[in-house]
Parts: sequence; structure tokens; C-alpha cells
Amino acid sequence: MNGDNSIQVLQHRLAAAGQSHLLQFWDELSAAEQQDLYVELNAMDFEELGHAFQKAMMGGSHLPKEENMDDKMEPVPQEVLGSTTRDQVHLPAWEEEGLRQISQSKVAVLLLAGGQGTRLGVSYPKGMYDVGLPSHKTLFQIQAERILKLQQLAEKRHGLKCVIPWYIMTSGRTMELTKEFFQKHKYFGLKKENVVFFQQGMLPAMDFDGKILLEEKGKVSMAPDGNGGLYRALGAHHIVEDMEQRGIGSIHVYCVDNILVKVADPSFIGFCIQKGADCGAKVVEKTNPTEPVGVVCQVGGLYKVVEYSEISLATAQKRSHDGRLLFNAGNIANHYFTMDFLKNIVSIHEPQLQHHIAQKKIPYIDVATGKLLKPDKPNGIKMEKFVFDIFQFAKNFVVYEVLREDEFSPLKNADSHNGKDNPTTARHSLMSLHHRWVLNSGGHFVDENKTRLPAIPCLKDASDVPIQCEISPLVSYGGEGLEEFVKDKEFHAPLIIDRSGVHEWVKNGV
Ligand code: UTP
Repeated sequence: MNGDNSIQVLQHRLAAAGQSHLLQFWDELSAAEQQDLYVELNAMDFEELGHAFQKAMMGGSHLPKEENMDDKMEPVPQEVLGSTTRDQVHLPAWEEEGLRQISQSKVAVLLLAGGQGTRLGVSYPKGMYDVGLPSHKTLFQIQAERILKLQQLAEKRHGLKCVIPWYIMTSGRTMELTKEFFQKHKYFGLKKENVVFFQQGMLPAMDFDGKILLEEKGKVSMAPDGNGGLYRALGAHHIVEDMEQRGIGSIHVYCVDNILVKVADPSFIGFCIQKGADCGAKVVEKTNPTEPVGVVCQVGGLYKVVEYSEISLATAQKRSHDGRLLFNAGNIANHYFTMDFLKNIVSIHEPQLQHHIAQKKIPYIDVATGKLLKPDKPNGIKMEKFVFDIFQFAKNFVVYEVLREDEFSPLKNADSHNGKDNPTTARHSLMSLHHRWVLNSGGHFVDENKTRLPAIPCLKDASDVPIQCEISPLVSYGGEGLEEFVKDKEFHAPLIIDRSGVHEWVKNGV
């Protein structure tokens, strides 16, 4: 163990910061536990933590609604908007531009996978989750295969061998398991050197007075510092330099839990580039005023994501002349950054980002009794930064609207949770999309009497069960290239199309 002197120095630092209780059980700890606690506490900057706590408590989203937020908000102006439905004529050009950039190895993807997945309730990283597709592929595998396929598509189009490097942000809680999983699965066919893991920071949980909580007598209760911890982690682990060395110009950032995510979506990238954007957000239309989703809008001339809880119902219900909600740009945490923009954020703006406060029920050791208490109402806070907090620094911000049923189905909850954003809805969304791909490519589904099944455009609610259909991302990235497998053919579900072909449920050609 460290000398008496070092423990005394730590004691002084803790006393000065009002955190002396963290050593309350010191004498009960084993030498190894003392060492771990010492290392953990010694690495903490209590002054910075106290400052962040004060600032976050003064300005956070836990406070009553900001006055006049409703009056300050303005919708995204038309000229910065692109849409996969309303701008169909431009789509081929955007896709072409995106593929060209990819073929020159100028596009990287950055995965946010440091979350704890508390609501899903599994003990391993969410990316390792199998939602029960016929192939039993995990979210990580689906994403890896989309990257592989996109590299191939870009190579084929432009005759250049290319790489889409994949940067994966994990946290102290997910790093080891994530790395082991990729090793075990041989990086799902990607080259090891093009999959770069890095770890975001952690922050201690505190009570409402700023006192740090212990989760065990010798262990501080720590949580990842939010997906906006990305920017500090990019700097700390020299990821920006790695990107620069590889000649990256555009970065696509996304969340691990969206099973439909179009990783490095060439159309989105092409759109942002052709618009000269430094920062872009992919959104889906918010159609229900009470849907608890953040909306991208302008506040005081700066772009922001305003949470549902920050605005009045009257504002959420406002409609524009076309009948759509006025604030309808639903944020799906799917962003575009140029290299220069990201560099500026990391090197200049990151320290200006404020933590948000989430009030949570945090199990803790009661310092008076030494007992572990599990509160049934919020007893403390976790501090987090958000990935979209940097929109305000964009000089040319753009918004790209996509169809929810094509691109957004997040896995947040366990199956028991009232039918929303759970493994079943994720699985169904993917199979429904693949079903539509087959129909769009001229294939048909028939029942046991060989009667053609009606083409259901998409699922309307969580209780709809789609036709079982799964197409490997190694065969098709976004519905392309399927005619050779399905055109003018009839299929009985389940239908699986993978690299080895169309599986035995193919009946006869017609
Ligand atoms: P969520 O905010 O939905 O959190 O993350 P979560 O960890 O997945 O789930 P809960 O809230 O504990 O149930 C949205 C995305 O941001 C990432 C997640 O991994 C997910 O891709 N994230 C979240 C981080 O990378 N780091 C964080 O600190 C928090």
C-alpha cells in the first residue's frame, strides 16, 4: 500500500472537497481493496467535479422548464433540410457522392457503445445482444456486415480498394467484454487494425448535495459520463490524430442500439457534403405531439435538441401550414461531422460543454451504518454530456429526414416493457424492412395454398407480426441487388437470403 504520507495527502484533498466520508470504511478494507480505492480516489479531480456539479445543478434539465423556451424555439429552416422522400430526385447524386468519398477511404464511422443498457437489463454490452432473428446475429455483427458490404459497393462502383475505419467508444463497464467479443468473432470479417476501441470517461454518482456515493465500502459508484463524453475521450485517446493519419474527411456517428442503422449511409454523407455542412443530424418525423423524443430546432439562432420535457404541450402540438408538426425533426442520435469540425470540438469547445443531470435511484452504502441501501425513489444524480450538445458550434448545420420504418428502431427495453423499443419490436422492424425489400425487387410471398399474401407496406403498431424474412447485410446494404434472387419468384416465409443463396423456402419461379 502507499505510504502514510500519500494517504494523508488524499485525506486532506477529500476534506477540502467535503468528501471525507469516502474513507469512512478504510480500516475495514483489505490491503488490495485499500489500494484500489486509493487509486480510484487519487485519480479524481474533486475541484473540477464540484464545479461541474454546481454548474449542472444551476442550469440543468432537471430544473423546471426554462422560461420562454417555447417562445425562443424556431423550426429547422427549409433550406437546410433534405429528405429521402421529398428529395428523391437528388438521392442518386447524394449516394454517388457518398460512395465516392467512401471509395477514397475518407469516411469513418464512430459507434457510441458506452451506455449501461440499464433498461434492457443485461449484464453484457448491448451490441452483443441477439434480438432473435433467424440468423441470431447480434447488433455488432449486423453493423460490421453493413460496413463490409458498403466497402464492397464503393469498391465496385469506383474500382478502388477502400476502408471504412470503425471507431468504437466503450466505457469502463463495457470495454473488456466488447473487445473479447470482437476477438472471438474475428472482427466479423473486418480487419483488426480498422476497428479501433477507445474508452470514455466515468464520473461518480452523487447525492443531491454533491456528496459522492459509495457502491461498496471500498468502491465509488461510477457511471459513464454520457454519450457526449465522446469528445473528451476522442482527445484523451488521440483518436482524432488516428483519423487524420488515415485521411478521414467525414465521420458518421451513431448509437449501438438502432437495429436499422445505415452505417456510413452514403446518401446522408453525400447530402451533407454537397450542402457544404460541417455538422448534420439525421432525423425522423415526429408525428405524435406527445411522443417523448427530442426535436432538432433553433434556439436563439443556434441549433439544439430540445427535449420533450422542456416544452409545453401547446408548443409540441403546433402545426405548420402543411399539417405536419411544426417541431417535427425527431432526433435519432445519428450525426455527420467533418474532420475539421470534430477537431475544433475536441480541441476548443469540449470544456464549454455542460453536464446534464439525471436524477436516479442509486444503490449506495449508508455511511452511518455501512449498509447497502436500495432507494425506491431518486436519491442522487448522474452527470452526463450529450453527443448533440455540440450542434451549437456548427457554422453550417443541415438536417436530413429519413423514414422511421426504414432507419430507426432502437433497442432500449426488455421485452416485458409495454411493447416499445424492445427486442421484439427491433426484430420485427428489421424483418418488415427486408420483406419490403423483397417486394420492391419483384418478389412475392405466398401462403400454404400458394395464394399471394397482400403487400403490407409497414407495421402499424407493436402487435403486428411481420412476415419472417431476413436478408444478410453481406448480400444487400439497403435493398439493392436483390432482383437476381427474388424477381418474379414466390416464397414461403420464413425466407432467408445470405451469401450462400436463397434458403430452401424458395418454391417455384413464376
Ligand atoms: P441511452 O441513453 O439510450 O443509454 O444511450 P443506454 O445505456 O443504451 O441505456 P439505459 O439508458 O442505461 O437503459 C444511447 C446511446 O448512447 C450510448 C449508448 O451505448 C447508446 O448507443 N451511450 C450512452 C454511451 O456511449 N455512453 C454513455 O455514457 C451513455
